[in-house]
Amino acid sequence: MMLLRRLLMLYFSITSSALTRNIGVFGLTAFSRIPLSLSTSSAGQNFCEAKMSNSPTTAAEASDETTHTRDLQQQDTKDKDPELGQKSWRSLIEISMARSRKIRGSNYVQLATVDLEAMEPRCRTVVFRGFQKFPADHKNNSGACDDLSTVLKMCTDARSRKVQESPAGEIVWWFAKSSEQYRMRGKLLYVGGQNDGDDPELSKARKELWGNLSDPARESFFDQNVPGAPTTKTTATNDESAPAGGRDASAGKPLPPPDNFLLMLLFPHHVDYLNLKENYRQVDTFSKDESSWSFQQVNA
Ligand SMILES: Cc1cc2nc3c(=O)[nH]c(=O)nc-3n(C[C@H](O)[C@H](O)[C@H](O)COP(=O)(O)O)c2cc1C
Ligand SMILES: *[C@@H]1O[C@H](CO)[C@@H](O)[C@H](O)[C@H]1NC(C)=O
Ligand SMILES: *[C@@H]1O[C@H](CO)[C@@H](O)[C@H](O)[C@H]1NC(C)=O
Repeated sequence: MMLLRRLLMLYFSITSSALTRNIGVFGLTAFSRIPLSLSTSSAGQNFCEAKMSNSPTTAAEASDETTHTRDLQQQDTKDKDPELGQKSWRSLIEISMARSRKIRGSNYVQLATVDLEAMEPRCRTVVFRGFQKFPADHKNNSGACDDLSTVLKMCTDARSRKVQESPAGEIVWWFAKSSEQYRMRGKLLYVGGQNDGDDPELSKARKELWGNLSDPARESFFDQNVPGAPTTKTTATNDESAPAGGRDASAGKPLPPPDNFLLMLLFPHHVDYLNLKENYRQVDTFSKDESSWSFQQVNA
C-alpha cells in the first residue's frame, strides 16, 4: 500500500506534458509497467490526455483528503449563491465545469454499474469527454435541458467488464474546488463494433471521438493483451505489434477505430446535486411524458 501511495504521489507530481503522453496508474495489475509508462510514450491505457493543465494543487489536494466535509460547509448564508434554486442541474454543471477547467483530473468521474450475476455494484474511474451534441430532431436529443445536451460522452474497450454489466449506471462527479457533487443516473449506450452503423449520428460521434484521442490512447485500443486477463510473460509489456499512435505507418493518419473501441454514452434521467458550501441539495428529474426536466430543492 505504501508503495502504491508513493507511486501515485510520483504520478501526481509529474508535469502535465508527461501526463499528456501517458499515465502510469493504469498498469496497477502489472507494477513493472508503472515506471516504464511514466518515462516513455508506450501505449498504456491512456484515458487522460483530455485537456488538463498544470495544477499547483498537489499539496492542497493532499490536505483535502483529511478535510472533513463539515468543514467545507458554510453556515453563514450572507453570500448565498443567487444561482441556487434558480437553475437546472445542466446549467449548474456548466458553471462547475468552467470553474474547475484548469484543475488536473477535474474531468475524472466515477461510473457505477451492476454486475447482474453477482448482484453487486462495480465502480471505476473514467474520463468525461464532454456532452454529446445531437441535431434537434434526433431522438437522443430528447433529454436536452436549457437547450443543452445532457448526454455524457466517454469511451471504453469492448473487452472490459462494464460492457457486460447493467445497461444503466450512475456517475458521480465531485468538484473539489467548489465543493459540489453531482450524481447522474440513466441508461448506458455503447456504440461500436457490432453495434455501429445503424445510426449515422452515433457512428459519426464515435469517429469524431476516435479522431480526438491522443496517440497513446488510440494505440492502446490496438493492444491485443486483453484488459483484465491475468498478466503473463508475453503480456507484461504493451503489445509491440500495435501500430504506433494508432496511426497509418506511411501516411501518418489515424487508422480507423478497431471494433473494441466503444463510444460510451450515459443518458441521465435523474440528477442529485449537492453543494456543501451552501448546504444546498436539489434533485432534477426528466419526465418522459412531458419530455422535460424539472427540479426541486430537497433537504441536504
Ligand atoms: C484516472 C483514470 C481514468 C480512467 N479512464 C478510463 C476511461 O475513460 N475509460 C475506461 O474504460 N477506463 C478508464 N479507466 C480505467 C477504469 O477505471 C477501469 O480500470 C477499466 O475501465 C476496467 O473496468 P471494468 O473492468 O469495470 O470494465 C481509468 C482509470 C483511471 C484511474
Ligand atoms: C439513443 O439512440 C440509440 C440508437 O438509435 C437507441 O438505441 C437508444 O435507446 C437511444 N437512447 C435514448 C435514451 O433515447
Ligand atoms: C474532434 O471533435 C470535434 C468536435 O468535438 C470534431 O469537429 C472534429 O472533427 C474531431 N476531430 C477529428 C479528427 O475527428
